[in-house]
Amino acid sequence: MESVAGLLARVVLLLILLSKQAAGSDYGFVYNGFQAANLSLSGTARVSSNGLLQLIDQMEKYKIAHAFHPIPLRLKNSPHGGALSFSTCFVFAMVDEFLDLYGQGFAFVLSPSDDLPHALPAQYLGLFNVTSVGDESNHLIAVEFDTFQNPQFGDIAGTHVGIDVNDLRSVSASPASYFSDMTREFQSVRLAGGEPFQLWIDYDGAGARLDVTLSPFGLPKPSVPLLSSVVNVSKVILDHTYVGFSASTGLVPASSYVLGWSFAVDGQAQALNLSQLPSLPITAELIRKRPKFGGVGLPIIIAVALIFLLITIGGVVVFLVRRNWFRYAEVVEDWEAEYGGHRFEYKELFLATKGFKPSELLGVGGFGRVYKGTLPTSGADVAVKKVRQESSQGLREFVAEVASVGRLRHRNIVKLLGYCRRRGELLLVYEHMRHASLDKLLFDQPRSRLSWGQRFRIIKGVAAAVFYLHEGWEQVVIHRDIKASNVLLDAEFNGRLGDFGLSRMYDHGGHPGTTRVAGTLGYIAPELVTARKASTGTDVFAFGVFLLEVACGRRPIQPKAEPAKVALVEWVLQCWRRGAILEAVDPNLQQLQGGDYVAEEVEMVLKLGLLCSNLVPMARPTMRQVMRILDGDATLPVLSANDIGEVVMAEPGPTLERVSVPESVLSTGR
Ligand SMILES: *[C@@H]1O[C@H](CO)[C@@H](O)[C@H](O)[C@H]1NC(C)=O
Ligand SMILES: *[C@@H]1O[C@H](CO)[C@@H](O)[C@H](O)[C@H]1NC(C)=O
Ligand SMILES: *[C@@H]1O[C@H](CO)[C@@H](O)[C@H](O)[C@H]1NC(C)=O
Ligand SMILES: *[C@@H]1O[C@H](CO)[C@@H](O)[C@H](O)[C@H]1NC(C)=O
Repeated sequence: MESVAGLLARVVLLLILLSKQAAGSDYGFVYNGFQAANLSLSGTARVSSNGLLQLIDQMEKYKIAHAFHPIPLRLKNSPHGGALSFSTCFVFAMVDEFLDLYGQGFAFVLSPSDDLPHALPAQYLGLFNVTSVGDESNHLIAVEFDTFQNPQFGDIAGTHVGIDVNDLRSVSASPASYFSDMTREFQSVRLAGGEPFQLWIDYDGAGARLDVTLSPFGLPKPSVPLLSSVVNVSKVILDHTYVGFSASTGLVPASSYVLGWSFAVDGQAQALNLSQLPSLPITAELIRKRPKFGGVGLPIIIAVALIFLLITIGGVVVFLVRRNWFRYAEVVEDWEAEYGGHRFEYKELFLATKGFKPSELLGVGGFGRVYKGTLPTSGADVAVKKVRQESSQGLREFVAEVASVGRLRHRNIVKLLGYCRRRGELLLVYEHMRHASLDKLLFDQPRSRLSWGQRFRIIKGVAAAVFYLHEGWEQVVIHRDIKASNVLLDAEFNGRLGDFGLSRMYDHGGHPGTTRVAGTLGYIAPELVTARKASTGTDVFAFGVFLLEVACGRRPIQPKAEPAKVALVEWVLQCWRRGAILEAVDPNLQQLQGGDYVAEEVEMVLKLGLLCSNLVPMARPTMRQVMRILDGDATLPVLSANDIGEVVMAEPGPTLERVSVPESVLSTGR
């Protein structure tokens, strides 16, 4: 249907493009959606039928995409002498699956080539490779939106915006945020949450000043740019340069999209008409095939029909939302009583946290937000965790577990005081811990000041807690999400395990269409992926990874580290093979002059960590054996690095695959 009209539009556009050519001044284009755009696409980039430029779609890993304006432009040396200016604005969106493990980048690029054939994905953003990064012969300038902090390139924060000149070390960078003209302050934003953002880049050739201004979709252009830097573009780029976008993903599946784009040489880029932009995939169907050409009557009829359709859908949505509102607000289901467990009133928690005020927010984790509160009745300090709960599947088991965990008593377990349910939300009430979670102390500071003695005590405490869950209580409790960020520290720096069984709800409900397994990437035992059954063995696996984290001071997966160091388990194993296992140890540990660094203990913990995170479940020790080894009541079995099954990152990196299984299954006294 759109064929004749569409073709006509394309031909007209092409004629306009060709007549203007790349002559220099006063050239510009505007795409409110890319239906009629003739872009030069490579990698996974394509334009969807509704005009959305999908650089990387459907949550893909290790992908590269490029989309460039097909004609190179002259952006230096204007025909009448002076330096050229340019200005561009575009709307983009980025989505990634794992809330706490970002892995992608997106960039606006001035490049001498329109496909960059030698570039790599992941941290190289589809712009450079290992040898070309930092080389002046790239003649490339980019404004990057990076969602991962990569120390290799001196990245400043998890999500940041930076100006890059021939290098991934930005000449200027800032955490992702925008200037709010209302509050006169910068507000930080989450870039990869699927929300669209608008970006303006303005280059003033005379002053060689490059301004980058970010704002959430729909807000007017802020009066203060996010970045403003002196970059002499004429010195960097070639006479003819392509303008466009590059996107890449790493170990974590992600998507990136561009909704509209305008560009002007020597002038202000035309404003985008936000109401004409294509929608992002979920709602794309509704406004697809919006008629643009043809008779006068047809569009009106279709528009009226669309409005009716929208009103009907709106009504149904409002009806459903209200129904849910009433259904979930106060209902306590019958079966809840049978398990007992303390149920708090929502009002009490609301008052305790001052109405879940942002200032009371203690942290945001994979499962939800945690607020600090003081119970109005008892005056006790608590931490309230709000968990999004989209389906009631798995909830019953979970409440049963809450009830039983509520009766658990152990000095290394964070006490769960009770829970509350409301409108698709589950609230869990824990005793409040004085210090932050262990991951913050280990990773988030430039140098962790936790000494080996403190770390070893935390390890032993957590081991005692897991042992208690597995064997010390009336029934076996599987934790399902052992990791540094679930270990909290009390006033005496004792490690206390929190967050029981939350992943259980996600095991059942889940995200249809993805092979997501509840738990946290990097701590998930392979048999959990294949058999989808949590056991004490999968807990031991995660505990092994936890041991390595604590001793090495590194997260289990660092997508942007150099390839050999991406997977922590593999890196430690490699060091062991080279006969230098202690090379993997946190360098801060040896520098601390506390005097309690014991090389033999550290080595034992590393080897024990590898043994626990063995790919072969049978070869892992039980928590009872782990406890005895940590306490010095038993010695580690004599092992060599070849006894451990390995996970290897294939170079240059697209797939994570298992390449070998140990020849000898270890005997650890079973
Ligand atoms: C798109 O532009 C390129 C470069 O100008 C040209 O070679 C190609 O024929 C155009 N394609 C279409 C479909 O217009
Ligand atoms: C890196 O990219 C450059 C071009 O930018 C290319 O000449 C070189 O061969 C590439 N190196 C590798 C190792 O791919
Ligand atoms: C930018 O570099 C060009 C070429 O080297 C030079 O002619 C021009 O004066 C420089 N502009 C500024 C503002 O420094
Ligand atoms: C934006 O697009 C809408 C719908 O196509 C149109 O009604 C409106 O006039 C446009 N606004 C501007 C400023 O061009």
